[in-house]
Amino acid sequence: MSSAELSVFIRAIGVHTPERTLTNAELSKMVDTSDEWIKTRSGIAERRIAAPDENPSDMGAKAAAKALERAGLTPTDVDLLIVATMTPDVPFPSTACLLQAKLGLRRDIPCFDVSAACSGFVYALQVAKDMMRSGSYRRVLVVGTEKLSSVVDWSDRTTCVLFGDGAGAVLLETTAEKGVGLLGNILGADGNNAELLHCAGGGSAAPATADSLRGGKHFLRMNGKEVFRHAVRVMAESCERVLAKCDVKSEQVAWFIPHQANIRILEAVASQLNVGMDRFPSNLDRYGNTSAASIPLALEEAWKDGKIKHGDLVLIVAFGAGLTWGATLLRWHETSR
Ligand code: UT7
Repeated sequence: MSSAELSVFIRAIGVHTPERTLTNAELSKMVDTSDEWIKTRSGIAERRIAAPDENPSDMGAKAAAKALERAGLTPTDVDLLIVATMTPDVPFPSTACLLQAKLGLRRDIPCFDVSAACSGFVYALQVAKDMMRSGSYRRVLVVGTEKLSSVVDWSDRTTCVLFGDGAGAVLLETTAEKGVGLLGNILGADGNNAELLHCAGGGSAAPATADSLRGGKHFLRMNGKEVFRHAVRVMAESCERVLAKCDVKSEQVAWFIPHQANIRILEAVASQLNVGMDRFPSNLDRYGNTSAASIPLALEEAWKDGKIKHGDLVLIVAFGAGLTWGATLLRWHETSR
């Protein structure tokens, strides 16, 4: 069998969330908002906030260590590391290189970041799968890790109530078994709508100056209503496209694991697909929107709760800044538990 025909599956998954919880009640003392407004409009009750010295590479390393431990593997078994993040520790080097050093991965392996905001995990999975099918990489870590609290304007009630910090990691492995693991995928982007959700400062176009800092250019800004509209349409379409590509009906999918942005987005997508919310697990109430970390966090929880079982079809779907989007259909393959 040629390596291009190998299946790629999630052998193990691990997560890490910061200890500190920020509740809606605490937020309502910081900005003009209320627990009721946040819960009704987004489904979020609380979110985790990383400590000042707890960076995406630290959280990602802990999540990855957990995945390795669950797989019964060590850091030296890893052949490639891809980190998805929109809140890198520093502009350079990559968060992947920092994580590599913290985790003690080998030095003869590639380590790099993927920048696709909330779709980053889905993008990184596909990059990993294609690289693995080249035959050069057998065991690969894909990590989604974010410290959104560092780019949120804590005086802007339209955004600060939505985001949180955390990390999730999967250990991918190749197998000769057919029809398991990552079955099919679609990815897309629309840079014409970049301004709907962006951070204007801090890059080479607008380096940090006293003026840019005073103007709050280093904070995330979002046109919530427009993003909401695009998110529902594109996530529903992405699910339909990946199902058609794999010749699978939505009734056959056991679990939909969407990017956790807003419970109303999830409800609208479920309704467009004609799927009950009982097949759309959500942890938004406890973590808010953790961008590239949100899918592995939700996936791990559904697996740990015993929802996802060997042989289940699982559809993960994401949408985010860029704009970017993507969906992956996978058949859960449990080698040990
Ligand atoms: O990962 C992908 C990125 N992000 C998303 O997916 C987010 C997508 N968008 C959303 O989730 C929703 O648009 C929001 C949750 C951000 C906002 O919900 P909405 O139902 O679209 O509210 P809105 O923006 O239309 O605001 C309604 C009202 C406004 O007041 P007026 O103009 O009606 O007087 C806002 O000023 O609610 C006000 N408002 C708030 N009130 C209390 C906005 N934020 C808050 C707040 N607390 N935190």
